[in-house]
Amino acid sequence: MTIPDYAEKIPNNVGLREDRRLQRALESWQPNFLSWWESMGPTLPTRDVYLRTAIDVRGEGWAQFGHVPMIDYRWGIFLADRNPDRRVAFGQHKGEAAWQQVPGEYRAELQRLIVIQGDTEPASVEQQRNLGATAPSLYDLRNLFQVNVEEGRHLWAMVYLLHAYFGREGREEAEELLHRNSGSADSPRILGAFNEETPDWLSFFMFTYFTDRDGKYQLGTLKESAFDPLSRTCEFMLKEEAHHMMVGTTGVDRVVERTAQVMVGSDTDDVAGYGVIPLPVIQKYLNFHYSVSLDLFGGETSTNVANYYTAGLKGRWLEERRKDDHQLRDDSIMVDALVDGDISQTEVAALTGLNTDLRREYIADCTGGVNRWNRILQEAGLPQRLYLPHVAFNRKVGAFAGIEASPTGEKLPADEWERRKGQWLPTDTDKTFVRSLMQPVHERGKIAAWVAPPRNGINGQPFDYDYVHLA
Ligand SMILES: [Fe+2]
Ligand SMILES: [Fe+2]
Repeated sequence: MTIPDYAEKIPNNVGLREDRRLQRALESWQPNFLSWWESMGPTLPTRDVYLRTAIDVRGEGWAQFGHVPMIDYRWGIFLADRNPDRRVAFGQHKGEAAWQQVPGEYRAELQRLIVIQGDTEPASVEQQRNLGATAPSLYDLRNLFQVNVEEGRHLWAMVYLLHAYFGREGREEAEELLHRNSGSADSPRILGAFNEETPDWLSFFMFTYFTDRDGKYQLGTLKESAFDPLSRTCEFMLKEEAHHMMVGTTGVDRVVERTAQVMVGSDTDDVAGYGVIPLPVIQKYLNFHYSVSLDLFGGETSTNVANYYTAGLKGRWLEERRKDDHQLRDDSIMVDALVDGDISQTEVAALTGLNTDLRREYIADCTGGVNRWNRILQEAGLPQRLYLPHVAFNRKVGAFAGIEASPTGEKLPADEWERRKGQWLPTDTDKTFVRSLMQPVHERGKIAAWVAPPRNGINGQPFDYDYVHLA
C-alpha cells in the first residue's frame, strides 16, 4: 500500500507515479472533469466549504475536515487495502484467487457494470446542482456539497478502473461519462431515476434516503466481485456512502419532526398554512422516490444477473455471511409476478431471482427509516403513520410495469389510476407548494421553518458553525 502523495496532481493510493501511461491518461481526463464540475456541478457561488476529504483509506485519513474551495477539492483515487489471500466467494470460480486483472471472457460485462455504476455518480451531482440556492441552513448546504464532491470522487473511482484495466474502450467510456447528462434529451443518463430532477429539499432528502440507498446495495454486490480492484474500490466508496444515508435519514426525520410539532401545536392536520409540509405530502414524495428507486433493481428475474453471479462478477449483499453453497444451482426463490394478470408471486431458480434477493434486502433496510419516522410521530402523540407503498405501485420496470396498482397493492384499471394517482403521487400543486417553502436560509445559526434543526453538527462542530462561506 503506497501512502498518498499530495504533491501529485491526483491524490491516490494506487501507485499512480509508477505507471506513467496511466498517470498521463488520468491527468488528461482531469481538466475535462473540472470543466464538467464547473458547468454541471453546484451553481451557488461559494468561497469555501467545510468538507471532509479522503487522504488515506485507513485510520483518520479518510476523514480530514477543513474549509476548502470546492474546485480545489482533492478528488483522489482510493482503494481499500488489498487482502493478498482474498479468494472468490461465490459462483463457478469460488475458491480461486481473486482476479488482479480482467479475464478476457468477462471484459465486456465488467466494463458495462462499471460504466452503469459510474454513470449514476455524476448524474446525481447534475440533479442536485441548483439546490444550494434554496438551502434551509448552512449545515444542510454543507451536507449537500459534501455529497456532491463525494459523488464526484466516486466518478473518479470508476474512471480509474476504466483507464487502468479497459484500454482504449475504457478511456472512451470515461469520456462518455462526462458527456451524458441528467435529463438531457439527446444523451440522458443510463438509468431512469437519474434523469428525474431533484427540484427541492424534500426531494433531496428522499433521494439520499431511497436512491442513494439503492447505490449502497449495488456497491455491496460489486464489493463481492472476483475482480479485486473493483471490490476494493467499492469497499471504500461504501464508507463514504454512509454519510449520504445519514443526510437522507436525518433529513426526513427533521421534516417529520417539524411537521409533527406544528400539528400538535396548532391542533390540526392541515398545516400547509403554517409553512410546514403536511404529512400526506411527505407520504406522496416517499411513494414517488421509493417506487422509482425499486425500478433501479431491474426486473424480478434476470438471466444476465444470474450469469454475472455464476461468473463471479457481482455477488449478493453480504455474500460471505450467507449460509448456503454460494453457487445456488439447485435453489429457488419466490419472486413478485403477474399470475393470470393478478399481482402475485411465482417460484423461480435462485440464480435468476437475484435481483429480487437484493431488492428484498433493500426493502428491509427502507422499512427501518419508516419505523424511525413513525416513532417521531408516535412520540409527538400523533396517530398518523407513514408507510412504504406496495412493490406494484407506480412501477416502470419489472413484473408490474404494465399494470397500475394502489399503494396497498390493489390492481386498478387505467382510468381509475388516472383519476386517483394525485392522491398518492405529488401533484403540480404539491410540488409548487413545497417549492414555495424553499426560501434560502444562508445565515449562520438560522434555519428554515419547515425543517427542525439537526441534533448534531458535523465533526463535533455546533449547528451555528460557519460551514459554508458564500462568495
Ligand atoms: Fe456514489
Ligand atoms: Fe451517494
